Amino acid sequence: MTKIEQNAKLDRIGDRLQRAVQGTLRGQRVRDLLHGVWLGHPLHPAMVQVPVGAWISAAVLDLLPGQRRAATTLVALGTAGAVPAAVAGLNDWAALARDQRRVGLVHAASNTVGLALYAGSLAARLSGRHGTGRALAYLGLSAASMGAYIGGHLAYKQGAQVSQSISELHLMSDRWQTVAELATLPQRELVTREVDEVSVILYRHGDDVTVMLERCPHQSGPLGEGEVREIDGHACVVCPWHGSTFRLNGGEVVHGPSANDQQILPTRVVDGVLQTKLP
Ligand code: FES
Repeated sequence: MTKIEQNAKLDRIGDRLQRAVQGTLRGQRVRDLLHGVWLGHPLHPAMVQVPVGAWISAAVLDLLPGQRRAATTLVALGTAGAVPAAVAGLNDWAALARDQRRVGLVHAASNTVGLALYAGSLAARLSGRHGTGRALAYLGLSAASMGAYIGGHLAYKQGAQVSQSISELHLMSDRWQTVAELATLPQRELVTREVDEVSVILYRHGDDVTVMLERCPHQSGPLGEGEVREIDGHACVVCPWHGSTFRLNGGEVVHGPSANDQQILPTRVVDGVLQTKLP
């Protein structure tokens, strides 16, 4: 897996595919929908439940007598469900870092082989060649399982579409800590401070101050260098790296590629001093 991460030869095809995906999925709404912004959670891993569940269930039914029709139905369901899951995955993939895109490319290639084998299996079953259909389905399951293994590496080792900011909370102690004198904070401007060596951004609106983790949940971009923009009546911070946008009054993600909200910290003002602590 490390060799795949470091294999620059994959970039030629990866860069072309990235341009093709970005050129095809242009609309912000479509991209946000596929990232899972509306869900507050990446959509791709949720969508793959359909093909994974259907194909594994079909593999079990293929071992039992009298289950041809049910197995064929599940193969059809999994094959149809794999297509939108793949589109959502490609949309996430196009906004990943280069080493993640290399692994993601191999993940996508394995799953494409799996999908093609299942499409062949479905065609064989529908034409009455159930033995061939079963064999192709088991080959497809092997390819899709390899794809799932690589996808696990991409998510859990490389952190693709996993919130990059939330682990910062583990560095903070659970007590109220001084952040700034309220009177020194400018109105409606981002200010960066450190709490227990964790970088946070402050945004004052009247006497209300938002304290938010600075590290962008998408790829650790510096939100403190981002732009403040009004969206649907809410002040939002836009990440300077890939444009993920978060509400400053709650941390909800408004635009991807991040599908995760940003963490807001509780605040209080004591004798004119702004304090914050762990949520
Ligand atoms: S790091 Fe990618 S949007 Fe912030």
